[in-house]
Amino acid sequence: MRECHQAIARWLEPLGVVSTIDAIGNLHAVYRAADANAPTLLLGSHLDTVPDAGAYDGILGVVLAIQLLEQLEGRHLPFAIEVIGFSEEEGVRFGIPFIGSRALVGRCNEELLNERDRGGVSVREAIQNFGLDPSQLAAARLPSEGILGYLEFHIEQGPVLESLALPLAAVEAIAGQSRLAITFRGKANHAGTTPMNARRDALSGAAEWIVGVENEARRASGLVATVGSIQAYPGATNVIPGEVRLTVDVRHHSDEARMQFVAHLTARAREIAAHRSLTLNTTALLEQPAVAMDPFLTSEIVSAIRASGSTPHRMPSGAGHDAMILAERVPAAMIFLRTPAGISHDPAESVLVEDVACAMESGVRLLRQLAASGEFLQRTNTTRA
Ligand code: HGY
Ligand code: MN
Ligand code: MN
Repeated sequence: MRECHQAIARWLEPLGVVSTIDAIGNLHAVYRAADANAPTLLLGSHLDTVPDAGAYDGILGVVLAIQLLEQLEGRHLPFAIEVIGFSEEEGVRFGIPFIGSRALVGRCNEELLNERDRGGVSVREAIQNFGLDPSQLAAARLPSEGILGYLEFHIEQGPVLESLALPLAAVEAIAGQSRLAITFRGKANHAGTTPMNARRDALSGAAEWIVGVENEARRASGLVATVGSIQAYPGATNVIPGEVRLTVDVRHHSDEARMQFVAHLTARAREIAAHRSLTLNTTALLEQPAVAMDPFLTSEIVSAIRASGSTPHRMPSGAGHDAMILAERVPAAMIFLRTPAGISHDPAESVLVEDVACAMESGVRLLRQLAASGEFLQRTNTTRA
């Protein structure tokens, strides 16, 4: 992340823009407005990613934002543009996503700072180890007024735009997501001497539950559920696993449907644990409601895509994004770029150069539209308490 911050700082130098790092590791770079007292438009995405990732999830949105500043060629708009590169959007290290963007909306509380990674390092210690000061987190919050909105360019990470043979989409809403950590505990024992009817095998119990997660999610329209990580302890070939820790990620555009499914999954886990004489522990890592994007900004995005000569598409996002956190405080909107083969969170993740050109053209037109929009510029006190 340090090297990433340094590379971005180098890209910003020719623009005369200096970047700063806030207390949670977000990068900020302000391109001034024509008028020093003008409001600010936020533009950005996240800088972190997942293990064995592709090269576009997150970072593409920051690179496009910087290129839009370059396209201004020294001109200044009736609003400042603040490029933000968020830290810790994915939630890989601590199991909790959106840590960077939460700091901007004041949701980095003590409970979050005390969360620990697999090595036992807390969020607070990780901040200090990076050379930052957790006591300065309050200073990372968005100002109480003067933020006109937040725009995020991002790859779709799914198959929709490719299936429609379209380059770009305006995102209308972002699906809600639940993330849980679940532990099944039985009794470790010798794999060679313990009869099958005398076992309390935590991994077999977890496996029975996991197959159920997939089967039930297949039958739930519009819902996806994923067991993304599992650890069996002690993890030796010849020892019956006494403990299994896993995570489950459930998404749906309807919060009610998602919560009902999560309740069903945990009830099912309890049943399986009971008939296998296992114990069960479930911890909610994330309860993120579905979030609608700002209708005005979304319609401006649609107009800009059309004006750039492409056919605009409107769609929901199954993936979570920092925009859903920023939307708690400011109008937020997203522009999706087509993801070839719908592959993401994998080294095969890609974009088409012509789609990036389309995104740039639409972005230039969008900034021009917003700079000329009285309705947009009079949105003072937009930041919601
Ligand atoms: O997991 C997600 O939805 C996104 O990649 N952060
Ligand atoms: Mn991602
Ligand atoms: Mn992302």
